Amino acid sequence: MLPACSVIGILGGGQLGRMTALAAANLGYKTHIYTPEENSPASQVAYKTTVAAYNNAKALKAFAQSVDVVTFEFENVPAETIRILSEVKQTHPSLEPLYIAQNRLREKKMATELGIKTAPFLPVSSLGELENAFREIGYGGAILKTAELGYDGKGQVRIRGLEECEDAWKEMQNQPSILEGFVDFACEISVIIARNEEGQVATYDINENTHKDGILRVTRVPSSVTPDVENTATQNAIRIAEHLGLVGILAIEFFVTREGEVLFNEMAPRPHNSGHWTMDAARTSQFEQFVRAVAGLPLGSTERTTDVTMHNLIGDDVLVWQQYLERPNVKLHLYGKTKITEGRKMGHVNYLGTE
Ligand SMILES: Nc1ncnc2c1ncn2[C@@H]1O[C@H](COP(=O)(O)OP(=O)(O)OP(=O)(O)O)[C@@H](O)[C@H]1O
Ligand SMILES: [Mg+2]
Repeated sequence: MLPACSVIGILGGGQLGRMTALAAANLGYKTHIYTPEENSPASQVAYKTTVAAYNNAKALKAFAQSVDVVTFEFENVPAETIRILSEVKQTHPSLEPLYIAQNRLREKKMATELGIKTAPFLPVSSLGELENAFREIGYGGAILKTAELGYDGKGQVRIRGLEECEDAWKEMQNQPSILEGFVDFACEISVIIARNEEGQVATYDINENTHKDGILRVTRVPSSVTPDVENTATQNAIRIAEHLGLVGILAIEFFVTREGEVLFNEMAPRPHNSGHWTMDAARTSQFEQFVRAVAGLPLGSTERTTDVTMHNLIGDDVLVWQQYLERPNVKLHLYGKTKITEGRKMGHVNYLGTE
């Protein structure tokens, strides 16, 4: 158990790091942020910041030496970075779950090996392979995604017919990719699960997520899925967390088909946008839960205290932030980002009770 006033090192300076740092402070911990960005959302509320590149071995070592445990709010860092950090200090989660989650092929293979269903998928590393893969699994349309470094729908191209493969491959710029069959899903859901070193696990109610242009817009809890779907998704999440020996928090996204099948889409071994409702509508927020897991504390209650809907404030949405202050059932969270750009997550609001 990490003693009070210990320092938690967090790799990444975005809003997830910011909200984690705030939760850590409430539990009496300090946070040290490692980020290449000046004045990052997380460093604004942290005890200390190192501004350096993710491949700066010297800075990484000094950072790891100066903290009591290392964790991540951003998993898309080179595996070498994680290796350097873990040689100096315990990292939670460990290299394995981060390494698997960094690559869409690795994570889908893992799911398949655990007997968890996914959309049909094939690895693709040339135009020829893409065309063959499309012939095999593209009958209902397909999505080509870069195997690594995609987020918020970036690095993805929809392919509707064989003739579109050439342009799609050009867009990928020869990066190793994955072709996935297009799922005509009934809805998208995600599960947030925490696990600590003692093997205690805790899951939250299922999140029902609506995306637009590949970016999460709205999360509703409770979801509209059947108890059967809820149970399958939760059990799958537990199986994955235990398989990975996860210490920390993990979000897993699933598609629910019209037939009620639950298909693994992707996972992120960190707090997740679809869990932001827990800040105002669960006994323990996902950020506090994450800190508890990383610090070796017992996990908190995940009980939901009210129905809730989370809306992301994306790009210009944030300009009207003041209007939310007048509404008693709305909780506003802004991320301290000064520059508004299209598609950038600037904050979110939680509507408590009925929207
Ligand atoms: N095989 C698929 N069939 C149908 N829709 C899909 C498929 N893959 C992705 N999508 C749609 O695109 C969205 C983003 O895809 P995905 O989650 O794989 O990428 P991402 O860029 O990592 O997104 P994020 O970082 O927002 O979670 C999904 O939530 C879903 O709405
Ligand atoms: Mg996703």
